[in-house]
Amino acid sequence: HPWLHKGEVGGYTQVYEGGLTFATVRGAGHQQHFQAEDTDILLCSGPKSGTTWLKAILFAVMNRGRYASGESPLLTSGPHDLIPFMEFDLYMHNESPDLEHLPPPRIFSTHLPYASLASSIEESNCKIVYICRNPLDQLISHWHFVSKLRRANVDPLPFEQVFEYFCSGKHNFGPFWDHVLGYWKASLENPNKVLFLKYEDLKEDITFHLKRLAEFLGCPFSMEEENQGFIDEISKLCSFENLKNLDINKTGRRLDMIPNSMYFRKGEVGDWANYLTASMAERLEKLMEEKFSGSGLTFKLSC
Ligand code: A3P
Repeated sequence: HPWLHKGEVGGYTQVYEGGLTFATVRGAGHQQHFQAEDTDILLCSGPKSGTTWLKAILFAVMNRGRYASGESPLLTSGPHDLIPFMEFDLYMHNESPDLEHLPPPRIFSTHLPYASLASSIEESNCKIVYICRNPLDQLISHWHFVSKLRRANVDPLPFEQVFEYFCSGKHNFGPFWDHVLGYWKASLENPNKVLFLKYEDLKEDITFHLKRLAEFLGCPFSMEEENQGFIDEISKLCSFENLKNLDINKTGRRLDMIPNSMYFRKGEVGDWANYLTASMAERLEKLMEEKFSGSGLTFKLSC
């Protein structure tokens, strides 16, 4: 992996000191054994960009009509239990788990950059759905998340240090800019294979994006489904308020250590304004301009 340098591997407490965790490195290496099927769906994202939300949405869209109202597995299992991470759940302990018996469509997720995906993914006709988020909010969300994972006897890193790391590209799963641009370019080159979504857009118009997603996956909502209120039902089921308030005591599968509740904090666009100084925000906005210049990629920083 281009972003893996000597000495940059650490435990969760060291995510910010260098970037990568043992789990990331081991899982990322082993997932190269993954054999993609044409019917697979891969949910790709950077950490803290709306992965949990999109997992719930994908599950609900693909399983619509299958469960009676009030009986969706999403009401009793966390989204991370329903859609496993390749690098954390599938390939963490076992180099080649038997995934062939799973009924299609298999849905997996990963935080790996596009360039690091298993080659069978690119070679097959499987679909990739990518979600990202403006870097200012993602940084704040990631900081909160990782701070909670730090061991009690480890002093928290000063936010100024975390900010410097983020700006210089030291970030779990690689520099923010490279991660986003990798999938953005792939989506422009092959729009039938890669759907590029932004957290802010989903917040703004979930109905439009649910339809877009279902169409991309080859299972558009029928007029009958629309009239029966399927889209509204899915957006309510997957809303921040609903998912956050579900009483799911199970821990997320991810490393068996992260409780489901940790994936729901504020769920807003623009929370960065409560944490970043004006000069920090300005520096990140300049970086966005510089890194995304000519790519056509832009982000909304407030709603
Ligand atoms: P905040 O920390 O800004 O609140 P991920 O799932 O990739 O780990 O991202 C987590 C972020 O998505 C958190 O952001 C979390 O609150 C937010 N989130 C989780 N579920 C959501 C939902 N249903 N709708 C909107 N935001 C959601």
